[in-house]
Amino acid sequence: MLDHRPSFTAAFVAACRGLTPMLPREARLIDDPLGLRFAGPWLTPLARTLLSARGPLRVAAQGALLPVLPWVVYMQVRTRAIDEALLAFVAEGGAQVVILGAGFDTRAVRLAPRLGGARVFEVDHPATQARKAAELAAAGVTSDAVSLAWHFERDPLAGLPARLAELGHDAARPTFTVWEGVTMYLSADAIAATVEAIAAYSAPGSQLVFNYVREDMVRSPGLLAGAAALVVRAAGEPFRTGFDPAALPAWLSVRGFRLLRDDDFDTLATRWLPAAWARLVRRGRRLILVERSALSERTG
Ligand SMILES: C[S@@+](CC[C@H](N)C(=O)[O-])C[C@H]1O[C@@H](n2cnc3c(N)ncnc32)[C@H](O)[C@@H]1O
Repeated sequence: MLDHRPSFTAAFVAACRGLTPMLPREARLIDDPLGLRFAGPWLTPLARTLLSARGPLRVAAQGALLPVLPWVVYMQVRTRAIDEALLAFVAEGGAQVVILGAGFDTRAVRLAPRLGGARVFEVDHPATQARKAAELAAAGVTSDAVSLAWHFERDPLAGLPARLAELGHDAARPTFTVWEGVTMYLSADAIAATVEAIAAYSAPGSQLVFNYVREDMVRSPGLLAGAAALVVRAAGEPFRTGFDPAALPAWLSVRGFRLLRDDDFDTLATRWLPAAWARLVRRGRRLILVERSALSERTG
């Protein structure tokens, strides 16, 4: 993470969610109109043209945006998997949500009508949070989420439960923690310390959902995904850490969580998307360091 700059990767994934209207209706799994506010000068004009123009101009914008299409579809699957788990938790009466590495995640606004008044806490790097607050204000959008500035590599993670408590989090009641698209950017030590902090603030019945990349893919991503890895490295957010899926249940268990499911994006794409779009997610493997989606529950 670069201290002085909002996260590049957070802006990219938010923009990809915002580009959902590029997809035909049957391939849309989420809707995030605010996502485009974070697109930045390189994508915004194209995206606006795509959304507002008709005829040849729209076709031209669609063509220019074609290279990001695999990411747009991919983000449908990643974000939908987490939305479903979160909404199921809330449907069971869960009333607290902590979003770690929240970036430009707009869940607190997007899903507000379906969160049943659940309290949302968003934790991220301060420069990213400042940009998010500014963009939401410029859009005239009010978010009820509570923000907490935190640097996962520097701030002592043992202090996270107390800081959340100061902001109104109640560790005696179940919490759903979202850690979407973050672990790959952290050191192994910071990941372990974060999961220990999550366990400390998570009452029994709490759940943790997170994405991770297989460790062999971080080490040898292949040519195209390797190029994407170089881009994020140049942006100051290199891929650092992956997991071995076979070792994940034991790794979580010693930290107080039982793995409930660990989904491969191909499987989710095949379940939710028409065949041609699921194929694009599968082919995207060559371009994207494909993550998995792991849902676990607090034991004890
Ligand atoms: C790919 S973005 C994902 C953002 C968001 N979860 C989403 O899916 O839209 C990665 C996020 O991790 C955060 N992050 C990475 N390293 C961090 C660190 N050391 N401390 C705080 N936040 C960090 C970045 O600020 C960024 O928001």
